[in-house]
Formats: sequence, structure tokens, C-alpha cells
Amino acid sequence: MRVLPICNRKGGVGKTATAANLGHALALRGRRVLVIDWDPQANLTTHIGRDDRPEDAPTIADVFLAPSRTTEAVSQSVASGVDLIYGSTALAEAERQILVANHSAPGLILTRILKRLEPLGYDYVLVDSPNGDGQLVRNALIAAPELLVPLQTEYAGMEGLGILRRLVHELVEQDALQERPKMLVFAAMVDERTRSGRSLKELALQIPGTSPLRSVVHRNAPIHDAYGAKQTVFDYARSSRGATEYAALAEEIDHDG
Ligand SMILES: Nc1ncnc2c1ncn2[C@@H]1O[C@H](COP(=O)(O)OP(=O)(O)O)[C@@H](O)[C@H]1O
Ligand SMILES: [Mg+2]
Repeated sequence: MRVLPICNRKGGVGKTATAANLGHALALRGRRVLVIDWDPQANLTTHIGRDDRPEDAPTIADVFLAPSRTTEAVSQSVASGVDLIYGSTALAEAERQILVANHSAPGLILTRILKRLEPLGYDYVLVDSPNGDGQLVRNALIAAPELLVPLQTEYAGMEGLGILRRLVHELVEQDALQERPKMLVFAAMVDERTRSGRSLKELALQIPGTSPLRSVVHRNAPIHDAYGAKQTVFDYARSSRGATEYAALAEEIDHDG
């Protein structure tokens, strides 16, 4: 079971689009895939959640408070072969409850959830992390030996990576992390006119602990429109550039692992 938290401190860099579309691309390669909506904004659930799911079915907020309920919360998404632990805005309140309750290991909740998933035989578990550097992001950094970091090469996007690295450093200092996770960075939402692909590689090489991927995802309208249509880009526009590029990213990641 390969766990890939998708992290960047910045919002709007393509984390959720990557969870949905990379997840489906890996499933189309025959991998068994689960995606976890680990963000109280629950955008991933809006994107690929099924409308016919019972409203009282358990979500990540229930699992967060009681990891023993993890397998109960695994459901189907709209994408064939991609299972989803549904998100909920109640996750924000669950996170607050854990903090005020003086939980013994607030950073290890996702790790516990992942342990419960091991018997289910997934090849990949993708974790759609929130923006910022709060407890949920810390959980994601601690939960796996590697991370997937979508980056925009504009200054703000790289700043997101810098902040992530500082957070990792802090967790190592606090002994919350034994080893620094490997950061697989790739250029997401690249504009045609910029030379982002190349500059990303150059910039990432200057940052120790990062491992730049060759694959690039360009800004491509069908990726955005698929979101609105509640489909992945593969079901929405299979021959689009976005679908082709997410398939190539999946292939690279699959070979890398
Ligand atoms: N490659 C892309 N091309 C065009 N639009 C994209 C692309 N990736 C993401 N988007 C759109 O950009 C917005 C932010 O993406 P999202 O994945 O939600 O970012 P994050 O999860 O990092 O906040 C969404 O409206 C999404 O549809
Ligand atoms: Mg998101």
C-alpha cells in the first residue's frame, strides 16, 4: 500500500484536481486506489462524491474521532475503480475537539486510519490535504515516507514548498518525524506561455529533499470543467490534454515506486 499525501501550503495549486484525476489514472492502469478527503473544505467530495450516497453514512470526520470506523467509511466514488473516504465540513470541528481534549497523539490520527486500511489491499492511497500548516497537514506529513507536491513555478507556489519544508524540519526537531519524507514535486497548472517545466526542475534541484518529476500538467479547461460536471477528466474528456498528462503522471509515479 503506497500512501501519497498531496500537500502544498498554498490553495488553488491543483491538489484536489490531482487527487481525483491521478487517482482515476492509477485505477485505469489496473491499480487498486483509495482517495481520502482530508480537507474540511471537502472539495474532493464535491468533485467525485456520488450524490446517491446516504447522508448519514460515516465520513472522515467520524473516522477522525474514531479510527476503528475506518473501513466502514470506505465508499465508491463516481470514478470506476476509485474508492473514496468522503469528506465533511464537520472535520474542522472534529479537529478542534481533538485539540481541546488533549489527545495523546494528535499527529498520529491519519497514521492510525491508514493502519486500518492495510488489510483492504489497496495499491495506492492518495490523501487530499488542506491548505495551511495545521494539525491535519502535520498528520499527512507524518503518515508516509513520501509526499506529492503540486507546484506552480510562480513565486507563491515555490513559497508553498518552502513552508512545507520548514514544517517538516520542525517535525524532525520535535521528534515527531524520524526521517524526512521524500517530496515528489511536479508542475501543475502550467501556463503555456511560461517556461515553468524547466524552471521547476532548476528550482527544485536547489531544494534538498525534493525529487522533481518529469511530468507536467498544463492549465487545461477540461480539468476545470470536469470538476463542475462532477467527473474526473477521464470520464469528462478522455482525449483532452489534461487526461493525457494525468495518465503520464500516473505512469511516472507508478514506475518510480
Ligand atoms: N490543470 C488545471 N487546469 C485548469 N484548471 C485547473 C487545473 N487544476 C486545477 N484546476 C482548477 O483550479 C482550481 C483549484 O484547483 P484545486 O485542485 O481545487 O486546488 P487546491 O486543492 O490545491 O486548492 C479548481 O477550480 C480546479 O478546477
Ligand atoms: Mg483542495
